[in-house]
Amino acid sequence: MLVSAAEMLKKAKAGHYAVGQFNINNLEWTKAALLTAEECKSPIILGVSEGAGKYMCGFKTVADMVKAMMEELKITVPVALHLDHGTYDGCYKCIEAGFSSIMFDGSHYPIDENVAKTKELVEVCREKGISLEAEVGSIGGEEDGVVGMGECADPKECKMVADLGVDFLAAGIGNIHGKYPANWQGLSFETLDAIQQLTGAMPLVLHGGSNNSDEEIAEAVKIGINKINISSDIKVAYYEKMREVLKDESLREPNIIQPSCIAAMQKVVEHKLELFRTTGKAALYGRRS
Ligand code: G3H
Ligand code: ZN
Repeated sequence: MLVSAAEMLKKAKAGHYAVGQFNINNLEWTKAALLTAEECKSPIILGVSEGAGKYMCGFKTVADMVKAMMEELKITVPVALHLDHGTYDGCYKCIEAGFSSIMFDGSHYPIDENVAKTKELVEVCREKGISLEAEVGSIGGEEDGVVGMGECADPKECKMVADLGVDFLAAGIGNIHGKYPANWQGLSFETLDAIQQLTGAMPLVLHGGSNNSDEEIAEAVKIGINKINISSDIKVAYYEKMREVLKDESLREPNIIQPSCIAAMQKVVEHKLELFRTTGKAALYGRRS
């Protein structure tokens, strides 16, 4: 039932739109993402970080939950279950657990080691029909209260990793996870353009897609981003709604408290799908059941 994200992103590249990766952390997040994708007739990628995988009792639990939920909710749009920022070991665990897509984040290795490990995973994923995302130029974010400014990847290194046969490539263009510092310079469209010129048909991924203006995201999609990762914007919607709902102390049942939190997350997902121009694109896959 789960599909590789390779075809999704090839279609996105050809159609000049971006597929959304929405990170999941529990049943409610998963339900919000799947229901919205179905309503919007959009292909979707569910992202699972290693921490979220651990929290949800392991990758197998996650894969089984997603598959069962898709069946129960009668999801017909293409869904990829993707390891987000995977370690080398984490990649193998997810392949074993039944994920249909993985990201090997070798950005913290020296480029030669990143290349060697990525190359090995290209072979494994190809054999199993799983899509593989690689990363060049690490994507910053908040660490111990210090917010990094976001690196710009070297286009030549991007070309080198793209040529290894990965299905899509995350490249730093000044983007960071979570909040942006007040003096942040914005996304470097110049870098994106240079990477795109060298990597040609390779679909490019924008991490840290939360907290950017809609105009900035639309421009990134226009220039050549084909996958955008969203986590923090969903978190904010979830926790804000949860805080509001819990003010009513008479509410006790999770099945009364959670639905409005799910609805708040759905609003975010729906807006992003529209912004990424992926609404309705499930039609490109023909009929699925
Ligand atoms: O890999 C996950 C993301 O890049 C999400 O980043 O929390 O800024 O949306 P975000
Ligand atoms: Zn990321």
